[in-house]
Amino acid sequence: MEMKKDFLSIADLTKDEIFEIWDLANKLKANPIGDQLKGKVFALFFEKPSTRTRISFEAGIAQLGGSTIYIDVKTTQLTRGETIEDTARTMERYVDMVIARVYSHETLVRMAINMKKPVVNALSDLEHPCQALSDLFTIKEKFGKVEGIHIAYVGDGNNVCNSLILAGAIVGAKVYIASPPQYMPNRAIIDMARKIAGDGIKITSVPEEAVRGADVVYTDVFVSMGDEREREERIKTFIPKFRVTRELMKLASRNAIFMHCLPAHRGEEVEEDVIDGPQSVVFDQAENRMHVQKALILKLLKLA
Ligand code: CP
Ligand code: NVA
Repeated sequence: MEMKKDFLSIADLTKDEIFEIWDLANKLKANPIGDQLKGKVFALFFEKPSTRTRISFEAGIAQLGGSTIYIDVKTTQLTRGETIEDTARTMERYVDMVIARVYSHETLVRMAINMKKPVVNALSDLEHPCQALSDLFTIKEKFGKVEGIHIAYVGDGNNVCNSLILAGAIVGAKVYIASPPQYMPNRAIIDMARKIAGDGIKITSVPEEAVRGADVVYTDVFVSMGDEREREERIKTFIPKFRVTRELMKLASRNAIFMHCLPAHRGEEVEEDVIDGPQSVVFDQAENRMHVQKALILKLLKLA
């Protein structure tokens, strides 16, 4: 029997698979409506809020003739002590794929082990692979290539950052990270990315070093979902040095673009002038989530 394929980490895909997904995403972007997912049902199992991820999956699946069930985890029997294992074993009897946004990455792993149907990570505390997969697609769309493109990420070494590092390493981009020492990306992920990309991955605590000459300047919120208790401490650490300002953007290449996974907090991680300025591609990024995720689903279900 052929193995099912989960998508818990961006490293679950090879470079070739990523490029195949992007080729298909381009076709779906040009021709968005179809019936490839007719009769297929998708569970969107969400422990945390979402705007883009939920809507882009629901809209994309509907465009291909499939249907979705949005599951707010707070309304399930998990709140009354049912195990995640039994929940997964139940869901696989009803749906073709589970798309899950969770606090602990471990929850995804436990679901995936207990289901014969694919599980897709729609964001965990460790990774946001759907975001990275589509952000590199957006970069390719803007620059015509990803190999050798210099991406500078400034801010919290969080889930979005972890997946971006790994994705960049896999496809051959240069990823330079600037984070405060106490908020660096995941150590194991840095090691894995360096094994793939060597010098292509640089880590510093000086934003100017990461941004100088960059093609892409990327940031994300200082306080991720689940980190709210640390808000005051984080703001104190990040605001003075790790905001993407117009001044910082001037160090990047003349044709540099600004990226943010959204939601953004203007005046915190990014100045209004930057995110609302001519270099910003944040809504193209948001749109591409849908095209790329449609391609991902078709590949995972072996329908394309
Ligand atoms: N970028 C992203 O995943 O946004 P949402 O939290 O709105 O889904
Ligand atoms: N790092 C953010 C990303 C939101 C899309 C969070 O986890 O809240």
